[in-house]
Amino acid sequence: MAEAAVETREIAKRFGELWAVDRVTIRVDTGEFFGFLGPNGAGKSTLIRMLTTLHRPTSGTASVAGWDVVREPASVRRAIGVVPQNLSSDLDLTARENIDIYGKFYDVPRKARRDRTAALLERVGLTAKADDLVATYSGGMRRRLDIARALIHRPSVLFLDEPTSGLDPQSRRVVWEMLQGLMAEDGLTIFLTTHYMEEAETLCSRVAIIDHGSVIALGTPDELKRALPGNDTVGLTVGGSEEAALEAVQAEPYVRKAARDGRSLKCYVDNGAEGAPLLLQLLDRLGITVESVAIHRLSLEDVFIHHTGRDLREEESKKVSLLIGAGVPRRMGG
Ligand SMILES: Nc1ncnc2c1ncn2[C@@H]1O[C@H](COP(=O)(O)OP(=O)(O)OP(=O)(O)O)[C@@H](O)[C@H]1O
Ligand SMILES: [Mg+2]
Repeated sequence: MAEAAVETREIAKRFGELWAVDRVTIRVDTGEFFGFLGPNGAGKSTLIRMLTTLHRPTSGTASVAGWDVVREPASVRRAIGVVPQNLSSDLDLTARENIDIYGKFYDVPRKARRDRTAALLERVGLTAKADDLVATYSGGMRRRLDIARALIHRPSVLFLDEPTSGLDPQSRRVVWEMLQGLMAEDGLTIFLTTHYMEEAETLCSRVAIIDHGSVIALGTPDELKRALPGNDTVGLTVGGSEEAALEAVQAEPYVRKAARDGRSLKCYVDNGAEGAPLLLQLLDRLGITVESVAIHRLSLEDVFIHHTGRDLREEESKKVSLLIGAGVPRRMGG
């Protein structure tokens, strides 16, 4: 078995009455790209802060690169790179100066600092702008600089807290490619948090889905999706008679599960291309109008809905999604 890069046992953090992280036990092997996926307020940053020695756990234990986060914090800090949720590079300095100062904190010798800074700037595509003030950078460039800076002391585990939040899709993709390169070529272990399911799906070898401080599902993206009924969903928006439509589709043998959200029906089927026309014919026979139809491969979004009865996207905007048919939502609101 590979050595553990991160290992937690029942780790928990309480703020007043609130358990922000509630007894999380995970093991991340060296060389893994591990993702923590969850909505706003799920406890992602709190967990990262405990693993990076910024918060002391209320209970439970954790080790990073073999060091205990409470008893050996200095060793943990030397072994890790951290990219916090908020952009943190200094606006009044150049990119090169930002990285250099960080290197000094870590006692990286001058020559090594200079060489590594140049290599890292190249790595994140900032060489041409290396001597410009960070104040002139875009959000995507600042994020790339934060990542380069976190690597100056050659850590073995890199923690990233929502590394692409607020970036446009193009910049997000650039960051993804960079992280994939770091992982493949430098053998880094990467631990990231995100609320973008696509990000978790694209990057992570394993994903833990976290909600209200607890891990509710853990596995490779494929394993998580395989645990759901079917392979595809057929989404149908009907023009009235929603309850009758739901009952009818539920009675079909090829529909493994169906749920209603307002005027939309979501049907889990083994094959969307075969199921969709059958469903359309069925509703047509019943005289129920279908306004739109969409076939989707199951995604981590569906995994989240399956386990919580709520929609991850909706959660982002702190709305309540009622998924009738999947049971009453356990908790309302954010
Ligand atoms: N220092 C603190 N004092 C009190 N409550 C806190 C503190 N830090 C976090 N919390 C609460 O703990 C819960 C988890 O917060 P956390 O920041 O870990 O969530 P998150 O998953 O990182 O969310 P986001 O996606 O918005 O960054 C939230 O309800 C938050 O309000
Ligand atoms: Mg956070």
